[in-house]
Amino acid sequence: MDTGPHFEVKKLELAEQGQRNIELAEMEMGALMKIRERFAREQPLKGVRVGMALHLTKETAVLVRTLRAGGADVAITGCNPLSAQDDVCAALAKEGVKVWGYKGETKEDYYRYLNQVIAFRPQITIDDGCDLVTEIHTKHPDLLRDLWGGCEETTTGVVRLKAMEQEQALRYPIVAVNDNRTKHLMDNFYGTGQSTLDGIMRASNILFAGKTVVVAGYGSCGKGVALRARGMGSQVIVTEVDPFRALQAVMDGHRVMPMTEAARIGDIFITVTGNKGILRKEHFQAMKSGAILANSGHFDVEIDLKALATAGKKRQVRPSLDEYDLQGKKLFVAGEGRLVNLAAAEGHPSLVMSMSFCGQALAVEYLVTHRASLQPSVISLPSSIDDAISRLQLEAMGLNIDGLTAEQDAYAHAWKEGT
Ligand code: ADE
Repeated sequence: MDTGPHFEVKKLELAEQGQRNIELAEMEMGALMKIRERFAREQPLKGVRVGMALHLTKETAVLVRTLRAGGADVAITGCNPLSAQDDVCAALAKEGVKVWGYKGETKEDYYRYLNQVIAFRPQITIDDGCDLVTEIHTKHPDLLRDLWGGCEETTTGVVRLKAMEQEQALRYPIVAVNDNRTKHLMDNFYGTGQSTLDGIMRASNILFAGKTVVVAGYGSCGKGVALRARGMGSQVIVTEVDPFRALQAVMDGHRVMPMTEAARIGDIFITVTGNKGILRKEHFQAMKSGAILANSGHFDVEIDLKALATAGKKRQVRPSLDEYDLQGKKLFVAGEGRLVNLAAAEGHPSLVMSMSFCGQALAVEYLVTHRASLQPSVISLPSSIDDAISRLQLEAMGLNIDGLTAEQDAYAHAWKEGT
């Protein structure tokens, strides 16, 4: 490990490769680069301490550079032990960013690094999964009076924040960036759809065509995964607990059944529910030899790996692919049951992350601007900000759209004109 006063990363000499990867991401993140240009001119974050726990990827590095261009002082660590890109961490450290993280972190290091970010005494937090916010609330309440606000990236984090709000435990305002349409209908759907299959393919090189893919959970992420698996020539089975989502899956042309039935038929199992214990002992027992199991939900709780390790003998077949031998029947787990798209691949592609991170950058600006009037609660950004992100992305893609004529605008707000 290479360490310095403001960093701990795997190998500082990877910095040049990291810089090249960040530049590659910037080419695809035109909307966020537009925000960076404005931030550099207007300095809306001048002197603001931003503490981040986000996947340490090249796309996140583009966000970090954008916040710094706006005047922020940034300290960052990861939000998953397997998702950091070591070259990117090295590049950030070289640029003077306070950064702690490496791919394959121990649990100890994971929390030690979170505490480095906390020791920086952030005024704004950016979280993906709510671990930073939880750590602050449970172990560092002294910090709460300094905090202006926070931003949360993902569905799982928002679920935890809403539980905190419900119990009146939430002590500072947090923007649910995931609520933006330009986030959950883009990143969760197109991003997870593509990167999840990418992770499974890189881990196993399995052919999706002709396979039966079981997708557990039909939220935005599950819908994206199911769509892309079908696009690769797979037959898709969806398992759900929500009756409406189950109906949506049927109407989208997928088979729907309980996991106990799907377990017997599936070749590839992908969990994206955000809940725990989705693939359990009884399912492992029913599965066919050769089945591949992967998770794309935020935490590694969807596949019961403990039960699997008890039932079978584990060995690593190759990086990101473990075999469990259950008395001759072999089941394979990709990415150690952690977010397979980041553990076994590079996460979502840059373009889709651009929209998510426009949301983060604008949420930070919103919190700084409105900090005097915000209450400790989970906040959605005004739809005007979401629309501005759509416009920036269209502009980055060189696309124009129509506007309402004056007559149409009046009609859209009228009620007397009818049949
Ligand atoms: N979450 C999913 N993909 C990501 C990426 N490329 N960067 C940061 N967070 C992500």
